[in-house]
Amino acid sequence: DWTMDAYREQAIAKIREQVGDARVICGLSGGVDSSVAAVLIHEAIGDQLTCVYVDHGLMRLNESEQVVGMFRDKYNIPLIHADESDLFIDALEGVSDPEIKRKTIGRLFIEVFEKHAKSIGGADFLAQGTLYPDVIESVSFSGGPSVTIKSHHNVGGLPEKMGMKLVEPLRELFKDEVRALGRELGLPESFIGRHPFPGPGLAIRCPGEITREKLEILRRADAVFIDQIRKHGLYDDIWQAFVALLPVRTVGVMGDGRTYDFACALRAVTSVDGMTADYYPFSHDFLGETATRIINEVPGINRCTYDITSKPPGTIEWE
Ligand code: XMP
Repeated sequence: DWTMDAYREQAIAKIREQVGDARVICGLSGGVDSSVAAVLIHEAIGDQLTCVYVDHGLMRLNESEQVVGMFRDKYNIPLIHADESDLFIDALEGVSDPEIKRKTIGRLFIEVFEKHAKSIGGADFLAQGTLYPDVIESVSFSGGPSVTIKSHHNVGGLPEKMGMKLVEPLRELFKDEVRALGRELGLPESFIGRHPFPGPGLAIRCPGEITREKLEILRRADAVFIDQIRKHGLYDDIWQAFVALLPVRTVGVMGDGRTYDFACALRAVTSVDGMTADYYPFSHDFLGETATRIINEVPGINRCTYDITSKPPGTIEWE
């Protein structure tokens, strides 16, 4: 893609000019935006960049290993894997309110990020994968709706607090352009086309109080659902798909025995921007096969439902 090739060269020159020989820290989330920003900045300034991946223990099956492996081994980008799952999960013990979950995770995220930034002697610049729509949104929101449905966390406020300047090489791009740039930089297609994943991770897909046991069950069920979607070639038709583990145990029967395990809900939606969404019209065969697989393959779940709520009035996530 010649346009993105030109953009890449320009962006690299701009980053070099802005940063000089100073140090840059980038928070990697595992998402497309921060990943593309990190790879681009690494091309521009090499090991002046250090990435910090805050692992809150709320990622999907094998996700952290994949992200960390890709950046360290494929791209040789200096990377701190801050495995702080115990810190986050202990802090979430007894917390069932969705907004308190988000705030707890957001607060700890900043604390951990700051700690690791200090451990490498700090930096003059903080890199972020801010996109053009984020820039617009933060402007129009100031006069926009005053009701917050869900408070999304990011590292907002952190750069000022730590006395850092921002590097935002994607500020002029839309999402599809970021994907094109990511391809240009050699990020694998499977990574570039991934569904969005919320910052608070699986914590908001376990309505009510989370436990390590519930997270483990949810991870396995989610992996089966996504595997089914990929096998049936539906992944790219869907905006987001995931399992929510319901905080309720139900009675079932397996072989000669009675079971008393968790129920789960499958969620899959189509959407253009996440602001409105429709449930995905899976075939009954697909749903039946998926339910059977989850119940057979995931100990701890004995009932599976499909969420057919649109947004509005529902939201995409359950919390
Ligand atoms: P809802 O559930 O509000 O989700 O319909 C719309 C989009 O936002 C994502 N989402 C979040 N992303 N932090 C995030 O980074 C959050 O706290 C959060 N809550 C929801 C959701 O996955 C969907 O893509």
